[in-house]
Amino acid sequence: MIDSCEGCGGNATLQCPTCKKLGLPASHFCNQACFKTNWSNHKLKHKQKAVIEAITNGSAALYPGYSYTGTLRPYPRAPRRTDLPAHIGRPDYSEDGKPISEIESRGIGQIRVLNQEEIQGMRLAGRLGREVLDVAAKMVRPGVTCQEIDDAVFEACVARECYPSPLNYRGFPKSCCTSVNEVICHGIPDTRPLKDGDILNIDITVYKNGFHGDLNETFLVGKVDETGRKLVEASYESLRRAIEQVKPGAKYRDIGGVIQKYINSCGFSVVRSYCGHGINQLFHTAPSVPHYSKNKAIGIMKPGHCFTIEPMINEGVWRDHLWPDDWTAVTADGKRSSQFEHTLLVTDTGVEILTARQEMGGQPHFMDNL
Ligand code: MF3
Ligand code: CO
Ligand code: CO
Repeated sequence: MIDSCEGCGGNATLQCPTCKKLGLPASHFCNQACFKTNWSNHKLKHKQKAVIEAITNGSAALYPGYSYTGTLRPYPRAPRRTDLPAHIGRPDYSEDGKPISEIESRGIGQIRVLNQEEIQGMRLAGRLGREVLDVAAKMVRPGVTCQEIDDAVFEACVARECYPSPLNYRGFPKSCCTSVNEVICHGIPDTRPLKDGDILNIDITVYKNGFHGDLNETFLVGKVDETGRKLVEASYESLRRAIEQVKPGAKYRDIGGVIQKYINSCGFSVVRSYCGHGINQLFHTAPSVPHYSKNKAIGIMKPGHCFTIEPMINEGVWRDHLWPDDWTAVTADGKRSSQFEHTLLVTDTGVEILTARQEMGGQPHFMDNL
């Protein structure tokens, strides 16, 4: 069979040497002249491959000198999506990655009491965030890549006219965080196929009409060993117990004690470097909500406060390391980590879980098939 020329469709006599070198599918051309004419267009194919490899693959070549704490490695990634429809409202960081309003509010440190209209805005963001997580949940099985899940998350956001809050937040390259096994949080979706026995956290935040809704769940991929299942169960139970504490007058600093006491009794440990956070028109704002005991968090819960609780629970040591991608937080000992997160509203009498699941009595997905 004679290959046809990529440029003119004629009979090919030569092959692009760069494609060959990069291991791309062969590109044929009829002659040098045709190759030259089509060069500016054709060379984009090399770029794409080179870009994907440059960001990725975490082979020693990319992060020279970095020693991984566990067995997980980064895989190639697709480029950042830039095809969000223009009519979808964007947060202030969507273009340059800088959350200016968040940075400016930092110094103030006061916890906003939302009015009824703002509370309705948060209810909608929470409900839509939940719908998007449920879409992602249905995709979890061995062989699927987090890249595919991220694309589905992007599409589910678009379908609901939401902006996927992580996209370009402080430069984050994807629409959600996917954290596998020893990844504590902020894992970047890539092309690694999920393996039977993995645990996977998917963290979704959506931005709708000016408000963010933030939640995550950990999923069992295929058949997970007993320690892994216990870890996931314990992390969920710690969140459930923490939420029971939420009511007007309660101190933000007392949440961590309830979580750590329970987690210690299970023989697991609580991550200290990442905390729950106030959430409203800003993705991350006051208060900071540590998940460990004897913390010095400031603030007393009042009706109209919105914040997250999102304990990260480790099978081994609590300490974390950061991959050289500056996002992926992993356990220092390479053992697994599990997390659940809800966005909460303090009401006059207690708490409203704005990101509660509407099916199965609100239970997390991992409990569906136990
Ligand atoms: N959703 C995460 C949280 O619970 C934050 C992700 S920030 C990102 O706070 F940039 F990594 F997306
Ligand atoms: Co959060
Ligand atoms: Co989150």
